[in-house]
Amino acid sequence: MDGVYPGLRFADAPADRPYVVINMVATIDGKTVTGGRDEAVADLGSDVDHATMRQIEAAADAVLIGAGSLRATKGLWYPARLKRYVATRGGDLDYGSRFFTDAPGSAWVVGPRDSVPNQVQCLDTTGQETCWSNALRTIRREHGVMSIVVEGGSELNAALLHENLVDELFLTLAPKIKLGRSTPTYAGGDPLSREQVQRYRLVSCLPVQDEVFLRYAQRGDA
Ligand SMILES: NC(=O)c1ccc[n+]([C@@H]2O[C@H](COP(=O)([O-])OP(=O)(O)OC[C@H]3O[C@@H](n4cnc5c(N)ncnc54)[C@H](OP(=O)(O)O)[C@@H]3O)[C@@H](O)[C@H]2O)c1
Repeated sequence: MDGVYPGLRFADAPADRPYVVINMVATIDGKTVTGGRDEAVADLGSDVDHATMRQIEAAADAVLIGAGSLRATKGLWYPARLKRYVATRGGDLDYGSRFFTDAPGSAWVVGPRDSVPNQVQCLDTTGQETCWSNALRTIRREHGVMSIVVEGGSELNAALLHENLVDELFLTLAPKIKLGRSTPTYAGGDPLSREQVQRYRLVSCLPVQDEVFLRYAQRGDA
């Protein structure tokens, strides 16, 4: 099965961080889960969506996910070449999962060092709320990462968007309805004020059967 972005390449990174993209799949009503928040979502997108996710990963040096997504997705797998980062405040992670064991030299926790086992690599956030501009600067300068794909979930995406650190948004619209007042969406977190609402420009819009593959970039005039 082919994805919709063969040969995808990203623009050059800004000087002080990697090029940052988010990739998610959501229902027509904007929800990003099919079951509960603590469950995996492999049944939300089609095989084309899954192949597209691998193409987006193939264009990046690294992937970043939230601890909630890692906890929800048993057996989460990434190609060995991809550096992988997981954000946590509490460090409650399955350190025996493939995320860590497949490529121990390429896996990092972004969180407080004292909540992470000694043998696990950690970008220490010294117990404070993660400052993502600082963390991304370190990922660029110390690990040489020039592009990173953020694969959710909703809370992590919101943290990065709040700091205005996202260059592109990929969204697969799945032909489904989930409902739910508190069901996670593309990004949760605290709302932006009317003046702070961010604007993006459409790069491409590719329908495949009943799904739509959307790609947006920062307008650059915000
Ligand atoms: N549809 C899709 O494309 C898609 C993609 C990914 C995930 N999902 C689904 O989304 C759900 C998970 O999403 P979620 O919003 O609940 O969780 P999430 O964003 O994956 O993870 C939330 C957790 O990440 C850590 N975290 C988040 N922001 C942080 C920050 N700024 N600094 C430090 N740590 C931070 C915290 O970890 P600790 O709790 O460890 O402190 C937080 O509880 C799952 O059901 C998953 O299957 C869907």
